Amino acid sequence: MNDLDQLVQSATADFGAAPSPAELENAKARFLGKAGRVTELLKGLAALSPDEKKSRGADINQAKQRIEAALQARRDALAAAELEAQLQAEALDVTLPGRGRGQGGLHPVSRTLQRIEAIFGSMGFDVADGPEIETDWMSFTALNNPENHPARSMQDTFYVDMKDAQGRWLNLRPHTSPMQVRYAQAHAARHAGVEPMPEIRVIAPGRTYRVDSDATHSPMFHQCEGLWIGENISFKDLKSVFSDFLRQFFETDDLDVRFRPSFFPFTEPSAEVDIAFASGPLKGRWLEVAGSGQVHPNVVRNYGLDPERYIGFAFGMGPDRLTMLRYGVSDLRLFFEGDLRFLSQFK
Ligand code: DAH
Repeated sequence: MNDLDQLVQSATADFGAAPSPAELENAKARFLGKAGRVTELLKGLAALSPDEKKSRGADINQAKQRIEAALQARRDALAAAELEAQLQAEALDVTLPGRGRGQGGLHPVSRTLQRIEAIFGSMGFDVADGPEIETDWMSFTALNNPENHPARSMQDTFYVDMKDAQGRWLNLRPHTSPMQVRYAQAHAARHAGVEPMPEIRVIAPGRTYRVDSDATHSPMFHQCEGLWIGENISFKDLKSVFSDFLRQFFETDDLDVRFRPSFFPFTEPSAEVDIAFASGPLKGRWLEVAGSGQVHPNVVRNYGLDPERYIGFAFGMGPDRLTMLRYGVSDLRLFFEGDLRFLSQFK
């Protein structure tokens, strides 16, 4: 083996030992660079006679070409290895099953509202919806709660610094009771001159707002109003309808219901509705679930109806409270924090 064959062999071995493109370029410099061994050989030609120069020059050039070919082969090999490694790292198993979409569920309070609507629906009640930004007149005055009356503080509310077109102050409604007036007024107008006027039977579920915040009160909460007005609707009907609703809602007849005398400006007489379960963790404890009463004649007048002729009952209950009782939830705020660990239990 002549010196040039040895040189090619040593270059090929060096290139083969280079683990990365950067080190391969260093190895290349040792042979083909300015001070590389091939370059040194070519410089040595200067000292030779013209004939020797010709044959030696041709041999060196051939060796140089073989070294360049070995370099290219190693470059290709390194590039292929790098691509292979990258493909391995990014390997995708296209045969894996998809991750699927997370399945949502109804919020527990929405479930309760649907339940309430279904039960009252089966008793012939319509369902009405109304504005959450309400006029002071609808929230209080029309409900027999005059301006500056201390009873307004029972529902201390969020006022909006704005008036409506008729110059009435606006607030975030503190209860769903304004819907009694809105619905009854529309009903009376729709049936004007119809004899006899069909009865009013409606529930109005929705969001309500008060300056209140603790484990059982949230500044935003839900209420569901109920109203039944006709020519002969009495407190006796309130008791049977509401007791029947509660037994259906909680799916038990083992439930005591009591109407405890109370005060609301819009009803006379008024009662707080309490329930007590006959079994379970809350057994025997009286729990307040609604306010109710026989609608005050002043309120019936504000419906646009004659209180000498039309009479009936109203109630306002707390669906959030009912949801807590039904599912055994102890902190109301959990309903409104949006924590999926809590909510997904109701799917
Ligand atoms: N609006 C009352 C409240 O938020 C609840 C209520 C009591 C509604 C008696 C009624 C009713 O319709 O008759 O505390």
